[in-house]
Amino acid sequence: MLEHGGRLLAAARRHGIAAEHWLDLSTGIAPYGYPVPAIPPELWQRLPEDEDDLSAIACRYYGARKVLALPGSQAAIQLLPRLLPPGVVAVLEPSYAEYAAAWSAAGHAVRPCAVDALPLAAITANAVVIGNPNNPTGSCFSRRALLDMARQLEARQGWLIVDEAFADADNGGDSLADIAGTGVAGNIIVLRSIGKFFGLAGARVGFAMARDSILTPLAESIGPWALAHPSRFAARAALTDIDWQSAQRARLQRDGARLNELLAASGLGTSAGTALFRYLARDDALELHEFFARQGILLRYFARPAAVRFGLPATEAEWQRLAATLDQWKNR
Ligand SMILES: Cc1ncc(COP(=O)(O)O)c(C=O)c1O
Repeated sequence: MLEHGGRLLAAARRHGIAAEHWLDLSTGIAPYGYPVPAIPPELWQRLPEDEDDLSAIACRYYGARKVLALPGSQAAIQLLPRLLPPGVVAVLEPSYAEYAAAWSAAGHAVRPCAVDALPLAAITANAVVIGNPNNPTGSCFSRRALLDMARQLEARQGWLIVDEAFADADNGGDSLADIAGTGVAGNIIVLRSIGKFFGLAGARVGFAMARDSILTPLAESIGPWALAHPSRFAARAALTDIDWQSAQRARLQRDGARLNELLAASGLGTSAGTALFRYLARDDALELHEFFARQGILLRYFARPAAVRFGLPATEAEWQRLAATLDQWKNR
């Protein structure tokens, strides 16, 4: 099992602080999620049907030609490496640890690559995996740079996999969801999630956009009824609520900027990231993480390179609590 943010119960046990007293900033999940309407009781009783309008709704939201609904984009992160012939896969480093783990478990040779080295790696690799924006660093590739890499890969029947789990609040402009799997971008696979921007990580819903020769075996590997009926209901509501989406985008951008400024004003220097989180690579990351944990604030710690990631507080009281702890850290 790889380390992930959001493991509040483990932190509670380790530090002897009850779960309800923690401020969990360890994930990049929006702390104020979509207010899912009451679930109609028959949804618990009836099997979900793939023929409902969830895919059509997702196509409209993402501007995509075709999507496959997934029980979280994590499902595709794990299954795709098993569907593609073993080869060399370049993976952005640091990035979401599940990419490298899944590709090596499926027998591929994983080449970790820094951002600058990735376009060059696309010339020789059989697949390139990129988070855009990347978790945890927030680095982004332009649509043009991604299409260049896809063209390079195409020469070897290679694949470009772009995980856009964090794209909703930030760089929709560089999303490839509209062209993945189509003529110019037939070897591009895009993954999306409703976990982060919509704050619905618990619903376990994501989507893949790709050509049919990928989507069909992916659907077969996932099997029937993979998405719970209430989760389909929540996703359909969230993806159609355009007013809520624009309010959420504005709020996340405002709060992301506030977090960036707060960290800088607290002497932590310049952080990288997205609207949903800030990332700080620093030698004393473990010490900082433990200091905050003792105050009941859970951050995400990364060992290599040493770094911490701060997610967004939800309420003014939580912002004040974070600011006070940042002050204590500064004056320790
Ligand atoms: C970059 C990235 N992609 C994908 C996922 C998986 O998201 P989900 O399975 O909830 O769609 C995560 C979860 O943390 C993530 O950080």
